[in-house]
This record gives sequence, structure tokens and C-alpha cells, in this order.
Amino acid sequence: QELKLSLEQIEKGGYEHFMLKEIFEQPKSVHDTMRGRLLLDEGVIKMAGIWDHVERFKNANRIIIIACGTSWHAGLIGEYLIEEYARIPVEVEYASEFRYRNPIITDKDVVIAISQSGETADTMAALKLAKEKGAFIYGICNVVDSSIARITDAGSYTHAGPEIGVASTKAFTAQLTILTLIAFKLGKHNGNLGNAEFMSLIAELDAIPKKIEEVLNTTHELTQNIAKDFVKATNFLYLGRGYNYPAALEGALKLKEISYIHAEGYPAAEMKHGPIALIDENMPIVIIAPKKGHYDKIVSNVQEIKARKGKIIAVVNKGDRQVSEMADYVIEIPETSECFSPIVASVPLQLLAYYIAVYRGANVDQPRNLAKSVTVE
Ligand code: G6P
Repeated sequence: QELKLSLEQIEKGGYEHFMLKEIFEQPKSVHDTMRGRLLLDEGVIKMAGIWDHVERFKNANRIIIIACGTSWHAGLIGEYLIEEYARIPVEVEYASEFRYRNPIITDKDVVIAISQSGETADTMAALKLAKEKGAFIYGICNVVDSSIARITDAGSYTHAGPEIGVASTKAFTAQLTILTLIAFKLGKHNGNLGNAEFMSLIAELDAIPKKIEEVLNTTHELTQNIAKDFVKATNFLYLGRGYNYPAALEGALKLKEISYIHAEGYPAAEMKHGPIALIDENMPIVIIAPKKGHYDKIVSNVQEIKARKGKIIAVVNKGDRQVSEMADYVIEIPETSECFSPIVASVPLQLLAYYIAVYRGANVDQPRNLAKSVTVE
């Protein structure tokens, strides 16, 4: 027992929990996921899985992304990325819905499965179905040689390293990194992404690990302090627009999973179609509002929340004024292109969920009723 304990402590590398360790590993895990793929000096993205089958992607009628949980949130961001930069239509589906609804799949479709474990039963079953119908199937997995990695025609591993905490953190940002690389590579190849823009985007992507590092340094203590004020909260809303709408879903999921506080993510503009009815002085609202991402629209959402006395926790860019002045709590992140902002914005939201859960005395690494890998239906 004692030996087991000390081994685990060594594995946690001085951190209180695996989840915190994994949050802090993200500068490295994102970097590792790009390493050998993003060749900045040559102005090239090298991905054998894509390149060897580039015609399948080029001729695809559409790309269907299937996944569950956090991986599904990464998929939603993948849709924004691939549609914006490669102009290929993308649909994102929960694997469990896709497999049971007699979906239309043809040999002109490319199906991408995203799975940290590579073992999720629903994702596996959905892939088998897609394969039977002749689709080209591609895997984005973290676990090498996992079932999904083996069944797919090709794929790209996220090199995030083992993720132990049940709540996914570094696997998520690694998945976003892969999806970004795929979108840029396809866009460059099919001519939708011009060389100058491609070069400036990849230079920015290359700098993302440094920005994650910066965010960890500047928000670690701050998120602890904010968390202390919300230990007794019973509900949370998370709002974002564009690329940060799925980031809001993921922020809410993190909080639900480990703190057991009810939380909902919403596209900010949908607030007026329901959630606004819930807003009063007891409702904390996390709003992701970077400058490059429908900022003016977000400002008016924040005004509506303020008028109803909601408690605003705003994730904004450094030096922000308009949203910050209205917010009760301000979390600053460095500026990036909109397409990278979910990676950077997710980090303080992971920390916030983590500390709220810790202060509530929850078992963050192994939350009740949840499993790291769901191999049953
Ligand atoms: C479980 C885990 C989640 C994960 C989801 C999908 O619910 O607790 O963290 O996002 O499964 O898992 P996968 O391994 O397919 O990404």
C-alpha cells in the first residue's frame, strides 16, 4: 500500500492530482503534437496520414466527424477549422446518435473519429458502420495501437502522453492541434488557403505552446481566488461565440464532471432563447470574449447579463476594456487568431473547474460515476 502510494506520488510529479499535472503539461503536449509535423522553416505541414490519402480528402463530398464527450467538443471546433480553411463541408455527430439513426454514408465521405482512449464503444461501432458503407475512415487517437487506431484506414496520433485524470484536458488541446494542422494542410493543398495566410497562421500556431505557458503562469493563482467565491454555486452558464462556442461547452462539461455543479454551455446569441430566463444575481456566467471573435456581439450579450445582475466571469484578451469594465471577474489571455483561441481560453477554464472541485472536496481525478474510457454502450 505504501509503495503504491509513493509510486503514484512520483507519477503525479509533485502535483496534487493528475488533472492539475496534465493541465500544466499542455505547453509540452501541444508542442509534442506539432513536433515533426509543423515544419515552420520549410513552410510545410507534414502529416503522412493525410498526405498518403490526400485525394480521398480532396474528392470528399463532406467530412463527418464522430466522437463522444470532450472529443466531440474538439470535433465541433474541427468543423469550424476545416470549413473555414479547407472549405470542405463538415458534419459533427455524437457517435451514439450516428450509429443508430441509419445515417446516409457513401464512399465519397471521409469519416474522422476523435477519441483519446481509442476504445470508446459507440465511436468504434459508428466507425465500423461507416467502413461497411465504404467511407474512408480516419482516426485521431491518443492511445497508440488502440482499437480505433487499428480499425481506421489512416490517422494521426495526438502525442499528448498518457492522460490519467478522468476529465480530459491535455488530450483535448492536442486534438485541437491535430485538427488545426489538418485544416491548414488540406486548405493549402486545395488552394483555399493562400501561401501568405498559411505562413502567418503556422507561425502563430508555433507560438501557441508559449501562450499556454503564459496563461498558466498568469491565471493559476487568479483562478484559485475566483474558485473560492463559487464553491457553493449550484448552477453555471458558459457562453461563447464562433470557435469559442464549443469551448464554452467544454468549459461547462469540465465543471459538471468534477465539481458536480450543474453547468450549461451555450452559444452566446442563443441566450435570449431560454437561458436568459435563469439569470439573476445568483447565476455565475463564464463568458469567453476574445477580441477576434464577434467581440461587439459579445459586448451586447454581456450588457444583457449585467442588466439582470448575473455574476460575470469574463475571459478576455490582455488590455480589454469594454467587457472587463462590466465583469465581476476578469481572466486575461494573450491575443491569438480566433481559430486558436479555444486552445488558449480552455486552459483557465480547466483550472477554474479544477479549483472549484478541489475546494468542494471532490475526487477530481476519479469523479463519481464516470469512467476514463467507456467501452460499454
Ligand atoms: C468518457 C471520458 C471523457 C471522454 C469521453 C470520450 O466520458 O470520461 O473524458 O471525453 O469518454 O472518450 P474518448 O476516449 O473516446 O475520447
